[in-house]
Amino acid sequence: MTHAPKPPTLGVCYYPEHWPESTWAEDAARMRDIGLTWVRVGEFAWSALEPEPGRYAWGWLDRAIDGLGAAGLRVVLGTPSATPPKWLVDRMPDMLPVGRDGRVRGFGSRRHYDFSHEGYRDEAARMAAAMAERYGRHEAVGAWQIDNEYGCHDTVRTAGPVATAAFRRWLAARYGTVEALNEAWWTRFWSMRYRSFDEVELPVGAVTEAAPGARLDYARFASEAVVAFHRRQVDEIRPRSPGRPITHNDMGFFPDLDAHALGHDLDAITWDSYPLGMLEESPLPAEVKRRYARTGHPDLVAFNHDLYRGALAPAAGAPYRPFWVMEQQPGQVNWAPTNPLPAPGAVRLWTHQAIAHGAEVVSFFRWRAAQGAQEHMHAGLLRHDRAPDRASFEAEAAARDLAAQPEPPARRRGHVALVLDFEDLWVAQIQPHAAGWREWLVWVEVYGALRALALDVDILPPDRDLTPYALVVAPSATIADDALVASLGRALDAGARVVLGPRSGAYRSDMVVHAPPPGPLAMLSGARVGRVDTMRPGTTGSLTAREPMLGVLEPAGYHTWADLLEPEAGTEVWATYAEHAYAGEAAVTMKSHGAGIVVTSGAWLDGATWARLLGTLALQAGLPVLPLPEDVRLSRHAGRPLLQNFGHETASVDLRPIGGPLVEVPPVDVAWVDLPEHADG
Ligand code: GAL
Repeated sequence: MTHAPKPPTLGVCYYPEHWPESTWAEDAARMRDIGLTWVRVGEFAWSALEPEPGRYAWGWLDRAIDGLGAAGLRVVLGTPSATPPKWLVDRMPDMLPVGRDGRVRGFGSRRHYDFSHEGYRDEAARMAAAMAERYGRHEAVGAWQIDNEYGCHDTVRTAGPVATAAFRRWLAARYGTVEALNEAWWTRFWSMRYRSFDEVELPVGAVTEAAPGARLDYARFASEAVVAFHRRQVDEIRPRSPGRPITHNDMGFFPDLDAHALGHDLDAITWDSYPLGMLEESPLPAEVKRRYARTGHPDLVAFNHDLYRGALAPAAGAPYRPFWVMEQQPGQVNWAPTNPLPAPGAVRLWTHQAIAHGAEVVSFFRWRAAQGAQEHMHAGLLRHDRAPDRASFEAEAAARDLAAQPEPPARRRGHVALVLDFEDLWVAQIQPHAAGWREWLVWVEVYGALRALALDVDILPPDRDLTPYALVVAPSATIADDALVASLGRALDAGARVVLGPRSGAYRSDMVVHAPPPGPLAMLSGARVGRVDTMRPGTTGSLTAREPMLGVLEPAGYHTWADLLEPEAGTEVWATYAEHAYAGEAAVTMKSHGAGIVVTSGAWLDGATWARLLGTLALQAGLPVLPLPEDVRLSRHAGRPLLQNFGHETASVDLRPIGGPLVEVPPVDVAWVDLPEHADG
């Protein structure tokens, strides 16, 4: 499979089985006329494809695919394992997932299966094989999507007998002996000792919290069960459909499934981008939600573009592997607490934002608004009555913009590596210790600070090659092992500035604390963690800067978390805490390693303080730092650099300090600009 850059294209998610066949040919012609290339079909169609056990009804899908192909469109064919039919559930009722409250989650919507159920894995693989056998070499079929949004509706971590049995097997394979498990989970505490793997319970439903080591293993097991379920279908499709990339559509800010692990079994990763729904569901303050209610928050969406762009290891010599947006919000969604209409221009803005972050395909969800069933309040490119909705015109405008730039886009590495390990998100869920310590948040705050300085960010797992980056930030490498130290060490040897944030090195991989923290990371940071303080939401503390950071970390604020650092000889203290309970203790330290340095902030700095600290380090590293207007972002991972204005006023952006022009960007709009290539580009 080659991954040469291709010009970006657009697509749409289509459900021919929802509509009279007499409308299909016209639908296909209209899709082509708008400028779409890809059409995803099939991912929920099991009961239409196999209405009775073993009786396949391919005819309608044959005609739908043929018709789309005849119109010059390319098909992404979805396997329907997210929606097993009723007859299958009735045959194997124990395939239904059991929630962590102990209740069976029944038939009547979707995702009603347990990933660990061997019988259902076989059935899903059988269906995938049958589809691949029939369509794998069809010339209109250009890609596959397996299942749909693994884990949507909280379905990764199940808790019934099927999951329990599978968890026991998984533990036996991981630990070999139950003594090793007892040691790792510290079961000597509270008399939790097990005599055999058969005695182990899932760490849900205990009187109070279950052992952290058990919970972390449960998170690992559940994520791996998804990957194993996925792999069964990959193995069926791959040999029957040569040359067609296999994808899956992940979700934004979804911690339960390790996207890096899933990435090993994907040719292209995709994710579903719903900027307004995502904002409404986020923990951001009400005034931020008001500000971006109709345009989406620029950094929340971009964070996920950058996360998924980094989820698959790049081919040799390439800066990254392009991703797809498989579902792009076209208008109102139906599932957020409130569902605003996007501002005029927002759909085109999101489309170009995705492409500037490296998306190869942006596909809108969905073609025509559903007249019935659960999602009848969800917009499409067409309204219920088939009249074009506003998104249809914006998709067409985006297609015209792309047609005017026919060259494959130059693809560039970001300026900064942001290190993220899903296991650290799980630790945040298991042991927050402070009400404000939630998965993603510290990463998002650091990310936002970098993006507001016009820096492009690559979000990468710790085992990726970090040596090309002059600035490497690990906002909270909570679990630290020798492999992490080695990876960061190689970046340091190459001269990087490495920044470690709060809680770094708190735990070993079994979630037993390093004594002292940060464990092996101390070799890099040159500082141990003596004590930790946590702060109630809404309260803040301040730091006192020392040379050489007097102008930079003054004022300096922090919130939520404070590691009190104990520097060893040779480690500089850049700032101390002012808080009277621990005044004078080190908060920010720096240790040199040849040309590289490690800066450790034990404090969860506020956004403005991160920006001053990281901006200073980036400038020292020669990166093109430029504070942007609040609603504006600059992205240059692919093609011509793109300014995006998420605000409702025209923005003047002065790019001259980084070698660009002075530009006016209209509200809810984009502007392509020329900038000098960065040396790492
Ligand atoms: C996605 C899902 C789609 C549809 C959409 C509505 O999460 O993959 O099937 O439900 O949301 O916004």
